[in-house]
Amino acid sequence: IKTIGVLTSGGDAPGMNAAIRAVVRTALNKGLKVKGIQKGYNGLLNDEIIDMDKRSVADIIQRGGTVLYTARCMEFMTEEGQKRGAEVCRKHGIDGIVVIGGDGSFRGAQKLAAQGINTIGLPGTIDLDIACTDYTIGFDTAVNTAMEAIDKIRDTSTSHERCSIIEVMGRNAGYIALWCGIANGAEDILLPERYDNDEQALINHIIEGRKKGKKHHLIINAEGIGHSTGMARRIEAATGIETRATILGYMQRGGSPTCKDRMYASIMGAYAVDLLAEGKSNRLVAYRDGKFVDYDIDEALAMTKDINDYEFNISALLSK
Ligand code: F6P
Repeated sequence: IKTIGVLTSGGDAPGMNAAIRAVVRTALNKGLKVKGIQKGYNGLLNDEIIDMDKRSVADIIQRGGTVLYTARCMEFMTEEGQKRGAEVCRKHGIDGIVVIGGDGSFRGAQKLAAQGINTIGLPGTIDLDIACTDYTIGFDTAVNTAMEAIDKIRDTSTSHERCSIIEVMGRNAGYIALWCGIANGAEDILLPERYDNDEQALINHIIEGRKKGKKHHLIINAEGIGHSTGMARRIEAATGIETRATILGYMQRGGSPTCKDRMYASIMGAYAVDLLAEGKSNRLVAYRDGKFVDYDIDEALAMTKDINDYEFNISALLSK
């Protein structure tokens, strides 16, 4: 390996910059050349490739978003697109790539590896929905951002003795909702992995709480369930308790990364370059059972994971 490329793909996540910085500086320290591929696989296909040196990643470890920009790319899902991507790599002398993103981005990395370009994936998503790893870059910052916002909503909810539905991101996964639900002491947590659509049970729970003297009722609703505004309207009609919905949205994806995200992203970035330097390809860096490890991408993509039942069950107990 002489020259490596680095790209960010899919939704941005705080800590991606720390990972880029670690990739660039680890590679340069090993005497490799580094190219930044802008706007994910789109930028690869459009030849938006820049040379990177130690200074080009100065002053970014503390910044949210990604200095390489990011995109979701449909064309790269086709064999034609993948072949062209590999050709562009060869034209620039890129023989290894670090891809920072989610499952969709790893499928792209898997295909590039099959085209002869060595690839290593780093899990970068606020959703924590990558099966082989207990940690993804950006999740810690996103849950902390959401938790602080929900604390604020709780203040006004209590003052007005209202019920509040707060919708958090996560696509089809409920990890952000579960963590905020426990950390914010929510009365109810609605997760796509567990929700049985029993709105009447939710309504009964709110009425019960009010009878017990609760001043507010916080419901954390995962994006994968959605419909928070309609739900609020129906709950208010059924309970007579003022109910408001807040959709937190993209504020959860931005902002300065937490210490944990900077630290883990830095380690993962360095680890990815070590793997490339050892001649490895089609691997995914993960954090599992307290250790940084790596998996074959095919194996990693075939894994599944689910919400921890113990965590879900105690969330209900603790807010009683
Ligand atoms: O994967 C991160 C995420 O923010 C999800 O939580 C959400 O479903 C999705 O991206 C939104 O995607 P977009 O940026 O394309 O609107």
